[in-house]
Order: sequence, then C-alpha cells, then structure tokens
Amino acid sequence: MDKYVVITGGAGYIGSHTAVELFRGGYTPIIIDNFSNTTIDNIRGIENIINQEVKYFDIDCTDTNKLYDAFKSIGEGIVGVIHFAAFKSVGESVINPEKYYINNIGSLESLIHVMDIFSLNNLIFSSSCTVYGNPDILPVTEETPFKKAQSPYGETKQKCEILLNYDESASNIDSVSLRYFNPIGSHESLLIGDRSTDKPSNLIPLICKSITNNTQMLVHGDDYETKDGTCVRDYIHVVDLAKSHVAALNYLIPKQGKHVYNVGTGNGVSVLEIIKLFEDVNDIQLDYEVGPRREGDVVEVYADCSKINKELKWSAEKTLENCMVDSWGWENKGTRSSVG
Ligand code: WQD
Repeated sequence: MDKYVVITGGAGYIGSHTAVELFRGGYTPIIIDNFSNTTIDNIRGIENIINQEVKYFDIDCTDTNKLYDAFKSIGEGIVGVIHFAAFKSVGESVINPEKYYINNIGSLESLIHVMDIFSLNNLIFSSSCTVYGNPDILPVTEETPFKKAQSPYGETKQKCEILLNYDESASNIDSVSLRYFNPIGSHESLLIGDRSTDKPSNLIPLICKSITNNTQMLVHGDDYETKDGTCVRDYIHVVDLAKSHVAALNYLIPKQGKHVYNVGTGNGVSVLEIIKLFEDVNDIQLDYEVGPRREGDVVEVYADCSKINKELKWSAEKTLENCMVDSWGWENKGTRSSVG
C-alpha cells in the first residue's frame, strides 16, 4: 500500500529536495504547486533522481475548492502532508506585506480546512527562525519566546504557528513545525535546486549571480554588534534540511500532539565569513562593497539543535564547504560536482 505524502510547494527549492528524501524514506510524494516561483524542471529533476513519475497538481493552495478537488482525486493512502507553499523573501515582504499575509496565512488556513474535511492527520509545517525576531539570548531554543518579527515574512510564520498550535480549526491535526534557519546548497545531481523566478534576494544566489554577471554585490551593513559587524546566520545544507522532514514524519505518524523543532547546524556564520569561504572553496574572487543595512534583517540568529538531535535523531551532516561547492555547481549547472 502506497504511503502518500502531499507536498504543497513541492516543486520549489526545499520542497523538491524533500520529495527526493521522502521517496528514499519509503514514501510516495505527490506535489501541489502553483509554479508562481519555480518551474516544472524541478519535477522533471525529481523524477530523474528517483527514476519514477511524480504525480502533481498545478494548484494555488489559497483556492480551497481546487485544493479540495486535488485531495479528493488522490483518495485513500495519504499518511501526511508537508506545507511549503509560501512566499519567502524577507526583503520583498517589507515592500509588499499584504501579498505575504494573504498567501502565507491564507494557504495554511485553506489546507487545514481541507485536511479537516478528509479527516487527514500529520502535518509538517515549514516555519522559520524569523519567528524569534532579534533574540536576546543565543543560540535560540524552541522555548525562546517570539519577539516582534522583523519582517512581515516573519510575522506570517508566527501567525501560522499560532494557527496550527492553538486554533480550534486545527485541533484535530497532529503537527510538527520545523523552524528552518538558512537553507543553501543543492542536490549533488544538480538536477533540482533553487529555481525561484522572482528577483533573487538571498545571499548565496546573489553571490553566485554577482560572479556570473561580473557585477558588484552589496553587503547589507557592517555596523552591527556582531563578530565582524555583518549579520550572522545559521546556514544549513538543503539536503540536510530535507532529511529533517522525513525524520519529523517518521516521528509524528505514530504520535499525537503539536511539536516544534529548530532545524539548523548550531553554528553562527557572518556574511563576510560566507563570502570568504565561498571564495576560498571555489577559488574565485567576489567583487563586493558594504552598503546600508537592509530593512527587516535580523542581526544574529543561530540554533540550539539539541531537541531535534535527541527526539528525532536528526542532525546536519553536510559541511559549509559542501554548501559552497554545491551552490556554485548549481549556478554553473553541472560543470562541478559536490564534495562527498
Ligand atoms: C542573509 C544575510 C542579508 C543578500 C532567509 C530566508 C527566509 C528564512 C530565513 C527560512 C542577511 C545579507 C543578503 C545580499 C547581503 N528561511 N545579504 N547581501 O534574510 O536570513 O532570510 O532565512 O524560512 O526564508 O529568506 O536570508 O540570504 O536574504 O540574507 O548582505 O545581496 O545576508 O542582509 O544579513 P535571510 P538572506
């Protein structure tokens, strides 16, 4: 009997990597995606890697009727749902908050409603370290209280966690909220990756674009109270992040209740440290200059991962060097292979 896992946003960057790991974990991924910020090539890439066709629906999760129809047509055998479908640019959310509220919160509300109609259980929610705002104490644990989100993106993740964990509408759904830190890198096959069609805003894609296009990259501020004045993040390889979803599902299916885990490496790395590592590992020079701070940026955040290590028996395995090689390999699509 197939163990279907419905992945909303499954054609995206993290979703496509998770589809591969779910298949390797004995599940059958079924993708729902509106392709608003990715392309069908990631589905082709997943099929190439797992050597099996992947069923998918071109649907916007905020369209509850269409979402209902998709679940109805899947029928029996759904053992879990993973909800990735959301906009994720911190910078863009500051400029267009409404777009983020409507989509990120609306899509979860719609999904919870449909899962309730079909009495479906086991929801893994794609949350974010941005729920912590600018934390007072580092590293952050799952008990670290939410502070004011520094961006509407972070606000939507806070509101979604509250909806999932406390709202009556979700009371019948057992769930795990995974608070991602900063996902980077790509699958070693370079067949799936970040195919975002919107203007890139994340650090690694912009480093790559700057080198490819021979343009200057901007470091958003170096006057923060951090080790070298630039913002500090916890960068995690996307394959490690994908594997955490399989670990969470394996844990949740026999369990009940609402659970929350940080998913990071536990290491805080600055923007300048990332730039230097990227240059050293790939033997390349980046042209950058320091500019003004970016509105919505958190100064410093990195994870205490002891809870997920202990309860889900998961920890990040890939190194930052792996991330730098895979990221540059993805940019050059196959002219490099990743470090083992
Ligand atoms: C990282 C640092 C920038 C571009 C991401 C995801 C979000 C969420 C949290 C999971 C910041 C600096 C960037 C540039 C720069 N992840 N930077 N120059 O803002 O931490 O958010 O992690 O939910 O989905 O977007 O990541 O890569 O945008 O920025 O100096 O050209 O790099 O200011 O300090 P961020 P990011």
